[in-house]
Amino acid sequence: MAEVLTIDTYENFHQAVERAVALLKKGELVVLPTETVYGLAADGLNASAVSRIFEVKGRPGHNPIILHVAGYDMARRFAAEWNDAAEKLAKSFWPGPLTIVLPRAAQVPDAVTAGGETVGIRWSNHPFVQAVIQRAGMPLAAPSANLSNQVSPTNAGHVRKQIGDKIPLIIDGGPCQVGIESTVVDASVTPPRLLRPGMIHQESLMAVVGEIQTTVKNEGKLKSPGQLAKHYSPRASLKILEWRDDEHLARQLNEFGVELSDVHVISHSRIPLKLPDAQLSVIPHDPEAYARALYAEWHRCDETGARLIVMESLPETSEWQGIRDRLERASHHAPKRCV
Ligand code: TXA
Ligand code: MG
Repeated sequence: MAEVLTIDTYENFHQAVERAVALLKKGELVVLPTETVYGLAADGLNASAVSRIFEVKGRPGHNPIILHVAGYDMARRFAAEWNDAAEKLAKSFWPGPLTIVLPRAAQVPDAVTAGGETVGIRWSNHPFVQAVIQRAGMPLAAPSANLSNQVSPTNAGHVRKQIGDKIPLIIDGGPCQVGIESTVVDASVTPPRLLRPGMIHQESLMAVVGEIQTTVKNEGKLKSPGQLAKHYSPRASLKILEWRDDEHLARQLNEFGVELSDVHVISHSRIPLKLPDAQLSVIPHDPEAYARALYAEWHRCDETGARLIVMESLPETSEWQGIRDRLERASHHAPKRCV
């Protein structure tokens, strides 16, 4: 089982940095907290270390991995071209939950780009990630630290349960501050294209770069391979519903033919109080707080073995865009996923 180190004191923080750097330099994998979700990190310039990531996650080889950097200079070193849009996005949102896709520099291994001509670069604002990258003097390739197709981890316990027996070290930084994965923008095209919405939403991006192309989900022409994969999904089948009152909800639940004791309702505004047999979670009706809490709720549903997760529908406003995206994708899945 992985060793777990906390970073809650100055001393622990620095010891954990040294331990993580030593392992990463040997080509081993280490799980690190970021502000979005926990990442499964490898030396981003060591192709065989990066290929271990695919093995541990059971991730298909055609899905590229984000390269994490600490600072503008490092970011520019791994992009073959640094354009005006990238400059504006980086200056506005880095360090933070934004990944910028750009033409790759030759030294970025194929394992990171999945053989493609672009690389996704992110400067995380998490102090631990920054300290490790600076100390090691190398970028870190890191996808979310979950098994492929499962829910991203937002605390060290989630990581331990999924992949704790496959890696030597987990750094426990407590619950992630943002709670859903970074916004991914492809700045190698004009105008830049939003590949994955996140808590930095489309309107914020547009305020900075003007026009933004968006992917139309139904077209099936998504450029980000990760968008095609079955992602972000809890095990249970998931429905997004609206209800006027408890009776209205109960009638809809009835139609699914699932015992109420196998149903988990996750609400934020209309809290059902007359369905005592169902499990109930309430997440605050505030996008930041909601994003921070969401995945832990889904992990809990996986653990309790809920068969049906009912999500109360979300507002259509832009601050909820990234969260709506995760709910919608999770709701499109069959109850039992393949790999
Ligand atoms: O918040 C995050 O982004 C977290 C933390 C650990 O940084 N990482 C993360 O990585 O969510 P991952 O691999 O689970 O998701 C990255 C997404 C995938 O959908 C992948 O296809 C896409 O970004 N991506 C990465 N590099 C890309 C590239 N060069 N072109 C297009 N899409 C890319
Ligand atoms: Mg992921």
